[in-house]
Amino acid sequence: MTETMRQDRPHGHLHELLLGELFELLGAENQLLSGLQRMADAAHRDALQAVLRLHLRETEMHIERLKLVFQELGISPRRKKSKAMEGLLREAEDLIDELADTPAVRDAALIAMAQKVEHYEIAAYGCVLTYAELMELPEVSALLAQTLDEEKQTDELLTEIALEVVEP
Ligand SMILES: [Fe+2]
Ligand SMILES: [Fe+2]
Repeated sequence: MTETMRQDRPHGHLHELLLGELFELLGAENQLLSGLQRMADAAHRDALQAVLRLHLRETEMHIERLKLVFQELGISPRRKKSKAMEGLLREAEDLIDELADTPAVRDAALIAMAQKVEHYEIAAYGCVLTYAELMELPEVSALLAQTLDEEKQTDELLTEIALEVVEP
């Protein structure tokens, strides 16, 4: 984009940043669908399995909401593969294999991995929400804030389960 084009459009730099992050979030959420399924299947405790399965349904909603965001912005959705999410999910996969014989320890490790994933999403949605607010896009902001809330709630639920699972 040329400097003249940027000047023609208010918030030109932010617009680019916002789109880049949104493409990556759409990639990350899609990658997470199979990751959460795998983690839920590997969870031993019912409570942990339930939270992971619930969040799998919510993740499907997050993808739908991102599509609505793109619709609001008049942009066709594009997925960019998230290397961060790929790394986190690969790490989770390794732990699932390594801790196959110790279900309680594996649950604790799964909680830690799931929280790392949520913290990544919280950071990413926090950024795009700030951009959208600065760009004065209330509809987009509302959609992103809704998803951000669900990511935070999941993180809190995982902490609650961790306190039950992880014994000193
Ligand atoms: Fe999400
Ligand atoms: Fe999430």
